[in-house]
Amino acid sequence: MVDLIFEFVDQPMIPSQKNFASVEEIGESVKVDCCQGNIPEDFPEGVYIRNGSNPLFGGLKLAVSVFGKTDSVWVEGEGMLHALHFKKDEDGEWIFYYKNRYVETDTYKMESQRKKPAFLPVAEGDPLATLVASFFNMLRFGQEYKIMSNTNVFMHGGKHYSIAENYIPQEINPISLETYGNWNPGGAWSRAFTSHPKKVPGTGELVTVGVEAKKPYCIVGIISATNQVDLIADGKELVHRLDLQLDQCSVFHDVGVTNKYTILVDFMLTISPERVMKGGSLFKYEREKDARIAVIPRYGDADSIKWFHIEPCVSYHIMNTFEDGDEVHI
Ligand SMILES: [Fe+2]
Repeated sequence: MVDLIFEFVDQPMIPSQKNFASVEEIGESVKVDCCQGNIPEDFPEGVYIRNGSNPLFGGLKLAVSVFGKTDSVWVEGEGMLHALHFKKDEDGEWIFYYKNRYVETDTYKMESQRKKPAFLPVAEGDPLATLVASFFNMLRFGQEYKIMSNTNVFMHGGKHYSIAENYIPQEINPISLETYGNWNPGGAWSRAFTSHPKKVPGTGELVTVGVEAKKPYCIVGIISATNQVDLIADGKELVHRLDLQLDQCSVFHDVGVTNKYTILVDFMLTISPERVMKGGSLFKYEREKDARIAVIPRYGDADSIKWFHIEPCVSYHIMNTFEDGDEVHI
C-alpha cells in the first residue's frame, strides 16, 4: 500500500551540498600511494576511523503522495565507515591502506535486501504528509526513523562502536569494518544514545545521554568501567540511570564529564511531535527562554541537579569540562 501511495524521488542537491554526495563501497583495502607532509617519528601504527552520512541508492530521497511531500535532511544518509590504516613495512617505511564499508544496521539490511528505500522521510515536509509518513513508519517498522549509525565511532570495554544519536550503538570490527550487531548496554538502556559519550577521567566509566520526543525525555546513563577489580564492572553494565524529569524535550547532542560531575547544556532547542500535528515544525528554538547548564553529581538523582542559567546560545558540542578546586569549568 505504501508503495502505491508514496513515490520516492531523487532529492535535488544544492551545490553547497555536493560534498555530501554518496560514494561507492570499494570492497578490499586499497593501498594509498600519495602522502603529503611527514609522519612524526613516534607516531604509532594503527587505524583511524570515521563515519559519515552516505545515502544508499545514489542519494537522498523525498517522498511524494496525495498528502504532500516529505524530505530527508542531509544527515539522514546511511552510515559509512572510512578507515585509514597506518603500517610500517620491514624497512620501517610507512604504508597506508584505505577501506570503507557501510554500517550494516537493521535498516541497512532491510533496505539493501529490498533494493529500494522503505522508511519514508519525516524530518521535513508538508504537515499532513509528515504525519502520515510517521504513522506508516511506526506501523510497518515499529519506529519513526531509520537507524543510520552515521555520526561517530567510539571505544569502550575493548570494543568499537558506530553510533547516531537516535538509536543504540552498533558494534563494529575496526579492521574488517564488519558490523557485529546492536549494543544495548546492560541489556537495559533501550533508547537513543548520544553520538558523543564520554569516559570519566580516572575511573573510565562511560557517560551517555539519551533524548527522545516522548517521556521520559532525557536519561543520563553510566556504563561500567573496564579493567576494574570488581568483576561486574567489565564495561557492559548500566550502573546508573537518571531521568532528568524534564517537562519538555530539549536536545542534548553532547555530554560533558569532570571527575565528579556530568554536564549538559540545554540551549532550548525542543522537539515536539505534537507541534507537527498542529502544522508546526518538529524542532523549535525557544530563544525567549534562558539557556541553562546542568551540573549533575555522577551518581546523583533528579533533585541533585544544579541548573545555571546562561544567556541564550546554541551549543551542540561541549569542547572541554574540568574541575579546578570548587569550580567547574565548561
Ligand atoms: Fe556532534
